[in-house]
Amino acid sequence: MLVAPSILSADFGRLNEEIDELNKTDCDYLHIDVMDGHFVPNLTFGNTIVEIIAKRSKKPLDIHLMVENVGFFIDYFIDIKPEFLSFHIEAERHINRTIHRIRDCGIKPGIVLNPHTSQESLEYILRYVDLVLLMSVNPGFGGQNFISSTLEKAIKLKEMIEEQNLDCLIQMDGGINDKNINMLKEAGVDIAVSGHYIFGSKNYQKAINLLR
Ligand code: DX5
Ligand code: ZN
Repeated sequence: MLVAPSILSADFGRLNEEIDELNKTDCDYLHIDVMDGHFVPNLTFGNTIVEIIAKRSKKPLDIHLMVENVGFFIDYFIDIKPEFLSFHIEAERHINRTIHRIRDCGIKPGIVLNPHTSQESLEYILRYVDLVLLMSVNPGFGGQNFISSTLEKAIKLKEMIEEQNLDCLIQMDGGINDKNINMLKEAGVDIAVSGHYIFGSKNYQKAINLLR
């Protein structure tokens, strides 16, 4: 299991130290939740703070955009050159165009589904993305309870990926801990995002080991 700690649950007053702590671990990516206060009822950080995080982090960045106006915001985050740049299917009309804008800049595009959105909506999108992020909580906040129907969705999505013979990763985000991680593995999830579980533990590396 690849592990992506979500910086949303870090102590923002000690952001540099928190990033340094993660640099010392063997986590695979650093997950960054960008929220605009419109698509979700919360505001986090904009591109300026993400640029500071990017400078300090030794881990590849995995940016999760929870914004309404994807086309407007995307250039700011393309300039930061993350490994993955993902946006919500529910937020964008011109999905194919946006995916290609991201890919043309040498960044791996990802598409995100809210808990109520079916994997079937990806039929003509899946072939163009490197990553599908399945939200296992309603986006906006860390520390919520895992929505278990997302596991069923992951199984169906895995079948679609195999049927189309694609090289696309499945990521899950929200309410993930050492108690439910095995179910994610069985459902075919490749990357687990985890905020509260990792940052709420005394030893980040130990928490990451348990998730693996
Ligand atoms: C929620 C965010 C998640 C969140 C996960 O909107 O997308 O990345 O930080 O945090 P936990 O693991 O605490 O649910
Ligand atoms: Zn996220």
